[in-house]
Amino acid sequence: MCGIVGYVGSNLAYPVLIDGLKKLEYRGYDSAGVALHTGNSIEVYKKEGKVSALEGSVYGKNIQATIGIGHTRWATHGEPSDRNAHPHSSNSGDIAMIHNGIIENYAQLKNELLQKGYTFKSDTDSEVLVNFIEDIKINNECSLEEAVRIALKRVVGAYVILLLDKDLPDTIIAARKGSPLVIGIGDNAHYLGSDASPMLAYTKEVVYINDYELAIVRPDELVLKNLGNERITPFVQKLDIELASIEKGGFDHFMLKEIFEQPQTIFDSLRGRMDAEQQSITLSGVDKIADKLLKANRVIIVACGTSWHAGLLAEYVIEELCRINVEVEYASEFRYRNPIITDQDVIIAISQSGETADTLVALENAKKQGATIFGLVNVVGSSIARIADAGAYTHAGPEIGVASTKAFTAQLAVLYLIALKVAQLKGTIEATLFNKLLADLAKVPEHVKEILEDQDAIIQEIARKYSDARDFLYLGRGYNFPIALEGALKLKEVSYIHAEGYPAAEMKHGPIALVDDQLPVVFVATKDSYHEKIISNIQEIKARKGKVIAVVSHGDEVAADLADDVMFVPQVHEIIAPILSVIPLQLLSYHIGVNRGLDVDKPRNLAKSVTVE
Ligand code: M6R
Repeated sequence: MCGIVGYVGSNLAYPVLIDGLKKLEYRGYDSAGVALHTGNSIEVYKKEGKVSALEGSVYGKNIQATIGIGHTRWATHGEPSDRNAHPHSSNSGDIAMIHNGIIENYAQLKNELLQKGYTFKSDTDSEVLVNFIEDIKINNECSLEEAVRIALKRVVGAYVILLLDKDLPDTIIAARKGSPLVIGIGDNAHYLGSDASPMLAYTKEVVYINDYELAIVRPDELVLKNLGNERITPFVQKLDIELASIEKGGFDHFMLKEIFEQPQTIFDSLRGRMDAEQQSITLSGVDKIADKLLKANRVIIVACGTSWHAGLLAEYVIEELCRINVEVEYASEFRYRNPIITDQDVIIAISQSGETADTLVALENAKKQGATIFGLVNVVGSSIARIADAGAYTHAGPEIGVASTKAFTAQLAVLYLIALKVAQLKGTIEATLFNKLLADLAKVPEHVKEILEDQDAIIQEIARKYSDARDFLYLGRGYNFPIALEGALKLKEVSYIHAEGYPAAEMKHGPIALVDDQLPVVFVATKDSYHEKIISNIQEIKARKGKVIAVVSHGDEVAADLADDVMFVPQVHEIIAPILSVIPLQLLSYHIGVNRGLDVDKPRNLAKSVTVE
C-alpha cells in the first residue's frame, strides 16, 4: 500500500510527480506529499487527503526543481494527518524520505535515537528510519548511499524507500525489500514508481528492482547494487501496456469502465489458450509443472479478498473435474499457522496485484518447504509472478478501481482453463463434458456483453430501491456460493452497507434471524443441480417478508415470479455460470455506491494493493 513516485531529469519535476501520484492514488489516499530538490535546499509539501488536496495547497507556488519524490499514503503508523504525511525529513532537514511498507523494529530504533537526542514530529515508523539513516551518515562520516546500506541491514520489515539528500542535487537513492519498485528509463531522465503507470506517458523501458537491491538514480545514470555494495546489471524490460488502458475513457468511474471492459478482458484471458473446435487448451505454465500437478497430493490455493473467492470456486471446479484434493487458504492465516506442506503439494497463488504481502510471504514459506508454486497474477513482472515456479497471467489489463471486477472474471476464466487442462491430462473428464464446458467458456465474452447491455438499466432501478438499506444478505449454493461471497464483499466495499454472504442452506443456522421486511436478500439462483433447493430457500425468506432480489437464468419463470426483483443471465453449464452471475452483482454494488454519493473508485480505508500484513 502507499504509492511512491520519483523523477530525476531535465524537466520540471513537480508536474511529473503529481501526475504520477494521481495514477497511484488507488494504493492509498489518506495523504499526499512531495519533496523537491531546488539545487540549494529540499522543499517539502504535504497534505492530509487526496492528491487534489495537495495540489490545492501548492497552487501558485513556483517550484523550480528537476528532481523530486512523491508519496500517496495508506496509513499504518499514525492517523491520516498533515503531520504523518510523507515525505519525512531528518532532524537536520538535510534528508527527505518517502516509504512504502512497515518497519517492524521501529520502536527499538526510535528509543536509540531518542536517547541520542533526536526528536520526532510524526507517529510514523518512516520518520524513525530517515533519522536512523541520518544518524549513521553523521557518525560514520559516509555517503547517503553507504548509510542506507548500513541502516537496512538492521531494519526488520518491508520497504521501498526513496531519499533526497541536500548534498546530492541530482541523485535519488532508492531501495526495496518486500514492496514493489519500478524504474523507467527516459531520455536523460529516470522515473520511479510503485508500478509502471506513472511512467507510461514517458517511456516503455523499465527495470523491476528486486529485494535487497539499492538504486542510485541520476538523469543519465542508473546504478544498481546489492546490500553488499556489488554492482548488478539492470535487466531492462519493455512494457506492453498502453496509456489509454489506465484512463477512464469516457466512463464516470474506473469501476464502471472495468465492469464494461469484461467482454474484452475475458476474451483476452482466453485468447490463444483454448481452441473449442480442436478441443485443446494451451497453457505453458501448466505444461511446465504438469508432472507435479498430475502427481500432486493436493493443490493448496492461497489468496486474499476477491482473489480468495476465485480460489474457492476453483476448489469446487478442480475437485469436480480433476479429482484432486484442493484446499483454499486465506494467505494471512496460512502464513502464520504451521501448515503441513511437502514437495508433493502444488500451491496456486491468486493475486491481481501480485504484491499482496500475506500471499507473497505465504508462498515464500511454502517454497522453502519444497512445494511447487504456480502464480495466477494480473500485474506483469510483479513479485508473486517472479517468485512462482510457473504461472499464467490473467491479461485483464491494469485494474485501477479499488474494488476488483474485471480481474476477478479474468481469474475465473483462467482457472477454468487450468481445471479443464489438468482434467484432460489426468483423464478425469469425459470428452462430451470437456467439449461442452469449452464451448460455453468460448461464449462467455458474448454473454457478458449481453448482460451489460440488457440488464444495466434494470439494475439501476433495483439499486435505486435498495440504496438506503442498512444490511444485505447474499445467498448461493454450490458453484454460486463463492459468488454470493463476492457480491457481499463488493457491496460492502463500495457502498459501506453491511452485507454478508452465506451458503443458502446455512442461512437457517443463524442469519435467518436478521430477516424482516426491511432486509434485501440477494439470491444467486441460476439453474443448476441445486435449483429446487434454492427455490425452497427463497420461499423461506419470502415467508418471513424478506425482500428477494435474484440473479436467475433466462427462462426460469419460477424463480423470477418468486423474487421481488430479478436480474437475468444467459443459461450455461452450471460450472461456467458463476462467471456470468457475478456481473449483475458488480453492477448492483456500483450503482448503489454511486446513489449513496460515494467515491466508488477509492472507497474509504481501502487500498488496491495490500503490501502490509
Ligand atoms: O491483489 P490481490 O488480488 O492479491 O488482492 C487481494 C485483495 O486485497 C483484493 O481482492 C481486495 O479484496 C479487493 N479490494 C476486492 O475488491
